[in-house]
This record gives sequence, structure tokens and C-alpha cells, in this order.
Amino acid sequence: MDQRLTHHAYKLSFILLIFFLAFPPSSSQLHPLVANSTFLHLNYTAISDFRVLNRRTLLQCPDPNPYLQINVTNNADLSDEEFVTVNVSGVLLPSESDWVAMISPSNSDVTTCPGSEAYYLQTGDTSALPLLCHYPVKAKYMSSDPDYLSCKKQECQKYGNDGSCEVTTCSGSVTFHVVNIRTDIEFVFFTGGFTTPCILTRTDAPLKFSNPNSPLYGHISSMDSTGTSMRLTWVSGDKEPQQVKYGDGKSQASEVTTFSSDDMCSSIVPSPAKDFGWHDPGYIHTAVMTGLQPSSTFYYKYGSDSVGWSDQIEFRTPPAGGSDELKFLVFGDMGKAPLDSSAEHYIQPGSISVVKGMVEEVANGNVDSIFHIGDISYATGFLVEWEFFLHLISPVASQVTYMTAIGNHERDYVDSGSWYSGPDSGGECGVPYETYFPMPTPAKDKPWYSIEQGSVHFTVISTEHDWTEQSEQYQWMKTDMASVDRSKTPWLIFTGHRPMYSTLGADDKFLKIVEPLLLNNKVDLVLFGHVHNYERTCSVYNSECLAMPTKDENGIDTYDNSNYTAPVQAIVGMAGFSLDKFPDDAASWSLSRISKFGYVRAHATRDELKLEFVNSDTKEIEDSFRITKKQSSLRAR
Ligand SMILES: [Fe+2]
Repeated sequence: MDQRLTHHAYKLSFILLIFFLAFPPSSSQLHPLVANSTFLHLNYTAISDFRVLNRRTLLQCPDPNPYLQINVTNNADLSDEEFVTVNVSGVLLPSESDWVAMISPSNSDVTTCPGSEAYYLQTGDTSALPLLCHYPVKAKYMSSDPDYLSCKKQECQKYGNDGSCEVTTCSGSVTFHVVNIRTDIEFVFFTGGFTTPCILTRTDAPLKFSNPNSPLYGHISSMDSTGTSMRLTWVSGDKEPQQVKYGDGKSQASEVTTFSSDDMCSSIVPSPAKDFGWHDPGYIHTAVMTGLQPSSTFYYKYGSDSVGWSDQIEFRTPPAGGSDELKFLVFGDMGKAPLDSSAEHYIQPGSISVVKGMVEEVANGNVDSIFHIGDISYATGFLVEWEFFLHLISPVASQVTYMTAIGNHERDYVDSGSWYSGPDSGGECGVPYETYFPMPTPAKDKPWYSIEQGSVHFTVISTEHDWTEQSEQYQWMKTDMASVDRSKTPWLIFTGHRPMYSTLGADDKFLKIVEPLLLNNKVDLVLFGHVHNYERTCSVYNSECLAMPTKDENGIDTYDNSNYTAPVQAIVGMAGFSLDKFPDDAASWSLSRISKFGYVRAHATRDELKLEFVNSDTKEIEDSFRITKKQSSLRAR
């Protein structure tokens, strides 16, 4: 969230790097300075024990016993999604520090990697090294099996002459949710916890996916404001073009792309994305479906006869720009969370509840499109987690358009062209984001665009690229907003990732430079994320309320934009990442502050823009407001 310390933190990492290369710590325990890494890299890549696993010394396990075994209940090839039960047996003394890692690909080196010592310091961990050379996909403590520590499941390994048992061992099992990530999988049994791990044993034969080429995780974005051209993007292990079949017998071949670890950015010190967090993304297919009708339903499926086909999916096109009505959901900072309560690199605890809520909204026909305004997957250099995210959102992103804005956790990295220089993308530098979520942007690494749906013009910017007066993006947003025909789209919504107004702080320079454009172009509503809560302002400019809403007959705050004064700004970063609490005090421009998980449901007609913050756990509406505008006021302009 707060990037002000980023540059200093990065510099400090380099100083520490030089220091530790000169004076390597001899202890296998964490260096005392590790405690500071949580502070330095809060929100980057090194908070949990699991996430610093790679920087732990891999100890030699003390004399592994000969009875130890790890295997899976079902050795058959894996389907595209299943729960895999892993059994550990032959354990003489079950320990709370015993755990199982899922490793992929199976030939990954999970032994010590002393040559990599220098790589890891940038994540803030200055522990004694070396490390596991490849990051586990996920992990679980054996103690999650309630019968493990108490040794309820016993086996006799050796009988005495009198028939009594001389050696009794214990066993237990853990279950992992596994989605098709194409590369084969191995399970490794460790002890020593995440802090001082050592390998006890590993599975004999890797588990393979029965179809690594399966076409998966299809999701759709709008190409333009007509509502007639939709871009479908999906993932497969096969690089040959596939097809989308849609409507009444139409089809379109896919264009195929991918990215390699060479495309990840780095500095003197390799990034997680380039090194221990790399996972082969397979091939990313996109195909554009044209000749559709706006605000209408059609069916599609994608794949090929050789790799197989997706299910047939029902999709609803958004309304054309200039039509009367739009229903959309909007939020930021969602990410993903495991369905099996295992440990993963980066977990956003609210994401599952928010996605469940959105699935219901889409099923009820309440949604024409979805806007996810930055901090998308939080893979942050651990690339397999993009696939976890794509899997999570596919029930909604395959049925309505899923439009995105870029966030710091997709783009930022030192010396990479990002406006802020923190290492927040873990070395991705926007490459996986732009590949998985192609938006109607002007060019590569220029992730800003506008789109019209129904009565709304959305101006979507990148807060992570230069937005100062001389920048290309500034000129673009100025031209874009000035060109909006308000008789066609009465509502102008400006959106991006980092906020202008947050009780928890924002970038003053961004406010000073960009806010005048909002006022000059009579922007109605500004939506940002990045701060992990919900907050709404008055009609605000230069940190002062130029107008206050009044209560309508239902007690809902209503802003009268027939007499326009200034934009209403809202932060909607409460969709998954651990929530930020509010202090007791707040500025006068802050009218509503809620720290709960959820999403915003919006409904735009021609004379009203209504927003509701829906608590995804309770489905209660926690805040709602309306912006109204008489059509006569539009004609008068
Ligand atoms: Fe962010």
C-alpha cells in the first residue's frame, strides 16, 4: 500500500547484500535482521513463514528412518481439477513441525541452492542461506490431520519373537486442491517447519495431468464500445492455434503467445519471477468474437479436436456505449486464496467470498460487466499463482466481460519503467498481466484505455506509469475525457489503482497533477483501490467539500450533479487482501469508511448512477449512494 519507504528499502537491501556477501552469517538460524523484513516488505513478497521458505538453510534431517513413506491415495493421472490425498506413513515420532510440500515440476531442485544466496535478499529476508532452489506450489502441516500427532493410525513395522510389536509407527494424511498447471507434481515430506526445513522423503513417481494441453480458464474482455466484439483469452499447454466456436456456427482461430523467464524483469539481483518463482505459463490463446449483438446472450466453447474442448458457456455481451443502462461490479485488490487451507505464497483471505458473491450476482442477471481495478492476482513473481487466480475467477469472467486496470503488484519494479520503483511485482513488470488480460490499450506497456458501456464512459488509467503533465498518459487522459459526448454517455467515471483520497494517505503529487483534469472534465465518479477498505467522499476538490449529498426519501446519500461541483471519489480496495483498519479521526471530505470484504454493485441509467457496497459475507448493503443528473442539464451544456 504505502510505497514511500520502497526506494529506501530497496537501497537497504543492496547494502545488506554487500554486507552479507562480505560477512556471511554462519548460523543456520534466521539472522536477527530478518525481523525487519516484514516491515520493509509489508505487502510485497515476504510476510509469511512460507513465503520466506526459500531463504532457509536446508538442513540434513537427522537419520531418516527406513519405514518412512509418502504416497498419494490415487495414482491415476490428474484431471483438470481435483482434490489429491497425500498419505505419510512410517513416522516414528509425529511432530508439529512435519509438513508436506507440493512441488511442480517434479524435477525441480528442492535441495540447497547455495549459489542463489544473493538472489533472495531483495525480498527482504537476510537470513542465513542457502535455500530450496525452487519454490513449492503449496504446503500443509501434517498436524492438520487431527489424528496425526496423537498417532491414532498405527502400524507395526517389526514384531518380536513373542509376537509383540517392537516398532510402532504413525501415519496421517493431508488433502490438496490441485488444478491443471500442466507440469507434473511431486509431494515432498519435510520436517523442521518452514523455518528450518529438511527433507525426510519424497514421492516415488510424479503425478501427471492427463491432459496438459487442456484449454482452460477462458475469460472475456470488450474490444471496444460497440458491445459486438469480445476477446476470449485462455491457457493451454499446446502452441498450435485453437478455435472458439460461438453463436450460430461461427468460429475464430486463436492467436498464440507466451512469455519466458527472459521476459521477466530483474536488476543486479534476480527477481522471484526470473528465478525461484518462475513457472512455465504454457501458451496463452486469444480469439476475437465479432458480429455479436450488444446486451444479448450467446454460447461459446473453445479448444480443438486434438486438445479437447471447454464446456459450452453462456455469455452476455455488455450494452453498447450510448444505450440507456448498465449494471456493473467494481472492486480492486482481490487476489486469490486456496480452497484447501494450505499455505501458499500470497493469500488474500476475502477473495473467495467476493467471488462467490459475484457468481450469484451474475447468475441472477444483475451484471453486464466487471471492473477489477488493479492488484489482480498478487502472484508477484510466483507465476503459478496467476493460474490459481484465473481458475478462481473463471465462473464469472467467462460469462461477462472482465475489464481490468493495472496495479503496483502487476507492474512495479526498480529501473523497469514503472513510476514507483518498489519491487511489488516480484519482477513481473506487467508482462503476465498484459498477456492474461489484454485490454483495448494503445500499445504494450501503455495500459490505459477508455470504454463506453451503456450510459457510462470509463477512463481507465495506469497509476503505475508516468502521469505527470508532460507524459503521454497525461495527454491521453486529457484528450480522452475532453472528447466524451455527454449526451451519449451522461456519466464519466475515472478509474485506476492508487487513490487520490484515503484516510490512510495518498500520493499528494498525483492529486495535485491529475485532479484538475477531473474537475475540468466534470468527472462524476472516481474509483480507486490499493488501500484495502471502502471509503467515500463528498463532492471533493483540493481536499475540500464543494458540495455535500442530501438524503433522498429512502435515506440514501444523493449527489445532485445537475448542479455539478466536483467528483465523488470512492476507494473500493476491499475485495480480498487483508483489510486495512481506519483510525478514529478522519478529514471532513470522508463521509463513509468501512473495513469489510465485499464489492461494489453499480447501476447506471441516464439520469442516475447508483452504487452499493455489498458485504460479500452477509450480502448486506453496507453503504449506498446516488448521483443524479437531469437530462435537461446535459442538453444545456
Ligand atoms: Fe496496490
